Amino acid sequence: MKTLVTSLIITLSFLSFADEGMYLPTNLKKVYKTMKAAGLGLSHKQIFNPKKPSIKDAIVSLGGFCTAEIISPKGLMLTNHHCGYDAIRANSTPENDYLTDGFWAKDYSDEKPVEGLTASIVVRVDDVTKEFEKLGVNDLPEQARAGAIKQLSEKLVAEAEEGTHYNAYVKEFYEGSEFYLFVTEVFEDIRLVGAPPSAIGKFGGDTDNWMWDRHTGDFSLFRIYAGPDNKPAPFSMENKPYVPKYHLPISLKGIQEDDFTMIMGYPGSTDRYLTSYGVKMAVEKDQPARVRIRGKKLEIMKEDMDASDEVRLAYASTYAQVSNYWKYFIGQTEQLNKNGVYQQKLDIETSFTKWVNEKPARQERYGDVLKDISSAYETLTEINPTNVYFFEAIYSLGINKFIISHYRLKRGIMGGDKESVEDQKSKLALTYKGQFQSFFPETEGKLLAAMLDMYVKNVPEDQLTKSLVDYNEKCEGNWSKFVNDNFKKSVFTDKNRYAEFIENPTKSIIEDEPLLIIATDLLDKYLSVTNGPKAMTAQAKLDRSNRLFIEALRQMYPKKHFYPNANFTWRLTYGNVKKYTNKDGKTYDYYTTIEGIMKKEDPNNDEFIVPSKLKELYETKDYGRYGTDGTLWINFISTNDITGGNSGSPVMNSNGELIGCAFDGNWEAMSGDIDFEESMQRTISCDIRYVLFVIEKYGDAKHLVDEMTIVE
Ligand code: ARG
Repeated sequence: MKTLVTSLIITLSFLSFADEGMYLPTNLKKVYKTMKAAGLGLSHKQIFNPKKPSIKDAIVSLGGFCTAEIISPKGLMLTNHHCGYDAIRANSTPENDYLTDGFWAKDYSDEKPVEGLTASIVVRVDDVTKEFEKLGVNDLPEQARAGAIKQLSEKLVAEAEEGTHYNAYVKEFYEGSEFYLFVTEVFEDIRLVGAPPSAIGKFGGDTDNWMWDRHTGDFSLFRIYAGPDNKPAPFSMENKPYVPKYHLPISLKGIQEDDFTMIMGYPGSTDRYLTSYGVKMAVEKDQPARVRIRGKKLEIMKEDMDASDEVRLAYASTYAQVSNYWKYFIGQTEQLNKNGVYQQKLDIETSFTKWVNEKPARQERYGDVLKDISSAYETLTEINPTNVYFFEAIYSLGINKFIISHYRLKRGIMGGDKESVEDQKSKLALTYKGQFQSFFPETEGKLLAAMLDMYVKNVPEDQLTKSLVDYNEKCEGNWSKFVNDNFKKSVFTDKNRYAEFIENPTKSIIEDEPLLIIATDLLDKYLSVTNGPKAMTAQAKLDRSNRLFIEALRQMYPKKHFYPNANFTWRLTYGNVKKYTNKDGKTYDYYTTIEGIMKKEDPNNDEFIVPSKLKELYETKDYGRYGTDGTLWINFISTNDITGGNSGSPVMNSNGELIGCAFDGNWEAMSGDIDFEESMQRTISCDIRYVLFVIEKYGDAKHLVDEMTIVE
């Protein structure tokens, strides 16, 4: 009886999701009623309207990796501190260390250009599924299918862009059952406007990361600049602050439990329809390997960053990124186990099989789905070490990326293709100065040695390369010595040697470059293992079966609002402000205050230092209009469904006014990207009143607040 009841509850929870769902604009009409019931006070046209200014015009995809929102008529943008981190770092020097001390631009001329950062805003979204159905793409064999999709996508994109300044792209949804065309405006002149010191913007550091409760002022400010016609333009001092179609008003009215919350942004990746086979591979293979590799890298970087400010600034973003997902993979594995996700997936698969067996037509279409998924994962599990280790240990290192960018040059030289050599030479000669500007051979060498060592020891022999095995024998497994010796003479580790080499790259130099040989051979091996016939067949089988699996689920539960997995496209999630109780029975309140910062303060731990000025403001209770009942709210939680990529997203109340900036999720629900944890999954956001307090009272930058539209 007990098992029956539990499995019934599990199946129902799969059906009814309270606030689970990352909806596309085209899903909005369907979920609109439930949003109204949850408290929304706007029409869906006010949220997303391709023809008139609406909230969507204020929602920005920042650089393709985070979200930002426009909060003034002068193109001022709010995002997270951890999203602006690399831009803040790139503008920092040991003398002007904005990462440590914060930065507040006094006027436009003081705002700092950020190379390479973009801001993209959706103009419209078209459902183009029918066009693809007309071609019958899903009935084609997997490779032909991919070709047909590419061709039609390119045509639709060209049509959408013609005669406009727009950028368009087509993406697949529901593992390839639906297709949407996104038409966007992409701004390229983005400038840093403000950032709190890391002691505020990253308060709690890696210890508090992915945890509630939280006390982090995780925000930073940027501005979009546009050409004289207010359209996107490359960076120029002549550019003007962008005048947006819409900017978000900001509410100082505060937050109460159960208040409606709505978040829009660009969630990156979820795997909510993953099967038990996928969960097993993640828990047993992928994640443990990733954690080991990342743990080692962090240890090496930390030691050198602690010893030198220059190294610290050079590696700060890399360290933060490696560390963020190091902890993520630990948490995900722990919570997949604790929350019984594997069993939940098995239960779904049991219901699926039962449903399939009810009708011969279903058996015909879906009868092989689980069997194919299972056999595909068998192959994928075999090649898994190459998949994980090549990216995590080899390609992600700066030195290897630089070396591997010579892949074509090497091929051209070895094959005697003069034209391609000349072409590569001129391309490479343009970019190498940047590589040597912040190259720290000692730290990079230690990282490389440790990663090569791990590679040899953990990747099965038949997935290694001959050169790696040979050099391993030659150096008797002493990769530190190998790397040191080669760093002393390689053309890739010294600017002058490199400059000479790129003038005249020869076969004899290439043959004498073990670092190049190892990296490019590993790339070849990676390609042959993961793109080889065996892997390709398995992957094609898996893609097709996953598509059929979701297709079947949508028929099994016709009343449920199915939403597609996250894929860095515009989404909306709604929910409510809510506390939660974890599996151990501990209840967490839905907000934190400045008293909590003072309680966590630890002058001996750089993650928990409280800047003296913040302490003064706390002691004099100088919170101005941002305080409530003698205190200052810092962070709050709500039931919205977000993931990485949503970082920096606006949290809005029922009137569409900004009440917070989303920046994290809670530890108990770290399995959430694979299975939404209905009772415990929470979005962690920075209270907008704390943001404005820090800008005005801490940063003395009231002129920025004066740009905004404040609703008191
Ligand atoms: N976990 C957050 C996210 O992935 C990032 C938080 C950054 N803070 C930090 N201490 N690393 O969006």
